Amino acid sequence: MSNATIIKLGGSVITDKSKPFSIRRDVLASIAADLSTYLREASGDAYIALVHGGGSFGHPLVRECLEREGVISRECFTRVAHYMTILNTEVVRTLVLGGVPAVSTPTRAVCVALKDDLADCDLGVVKELVHAGVIPVMFGDVAPVKGGGFKVISGDVLVWLLAKELRANTVIFLTDVDGIFTADPHLNLDAKLIPEVQAQELVRGLATLSTDTGGKADVTGAMKFKIEAGLRLSVKGVKALIINGLEPHNLINALQGRKVRGTVVWF
Ligand SMILES: Nc1ncnc2c1ncn2[C@@H]1O[C@H](COP(=O)(O)OP(=O)(O)OP(=O)(O)O)[C@@H](O)[C@H]1O
Ligand SMILES: [Mg+2]
Repeated sequence: MSNATIIKLGGSVITDKSKPFSIRRDVLASIAADLSTYLREASGDAYIALVHGGGSFGHPLVRECLEREGVISRECFTRVAHYMTILNTEVVRTLVLGGVPAVSTPTRAVCVALKDDLADCDLGVVKELVHAGVIPVMFGDVAPVKGGGFKVISGDVLVWLLAKELRANTVIFLTDVDGIFTADPHLNLDAKLIPEVQAQELVRGLATLSTDTGGKADVTGAMKFKIEAGLRLSVKGVKALIINGLEPHNLINALQGRKVRGTVVWF
């Protein structure tokens, strides 16, 4: 399945991260329409897995837990899991109503979290689903840690684990900014978009690729961790596109190989 594509619907796209529990329904519907058109036009020759982020559902709850208790307690785990299921249900509902053969695939049912922020997942079933032309929809989630306790598994990590399992040659990160800039564009108006870069070079050279989140809650490292996670998982031979998911039709344009404003990162 080297023509598989992994798409991350950033939490910053499908929710408004400055407002707890807010869903951007119009944006979700437009993404569903793009995916449906793409699949129809690809007539069976497109393999896709989706991941979505925690956005204004996951991040504030986790931050509150960590601030109050220092860890993700059992009570926090079930609460965050519950709200992530609600967000996932909304995402999958919109996709299915839009004609996309999507199915919810809860991360916590197939992965354990590792202490180093990576995860150990059994993606065999996910692979079969993709083979069968179904689009599994995983998400940034809370999960048990091997050996005890609970931790967050970032959607950004899942993207790379799926890319490896499905031998994807392209991954697309939809976020609320136009790509990777020389500094957080929400905090620095002079930041410049980086059109194309090698992953190694980006992480090595750019001290400015901060874990800043434009002032919004993000407990999993915002832009920097997307690239770092791929490198830590030794991803190779993959083209990652970071584009703005709030811009209508960016997704279908990218999927169909048209030029889209954004950043291409080579792994
Ligand atoms: N150098 C940079 N270039 C671009 N964005 C950056 C940079 N440094 C920090 N950021 C921040 O990263 C944010 C995107 O990451 P964030 O984790 O908030 O989104 P997401 O991954 O879509 O959301 P979620 O984690 O909920 O899925 C941007 O809104 C921006 O504020
Ligand atoms: Mg994030």
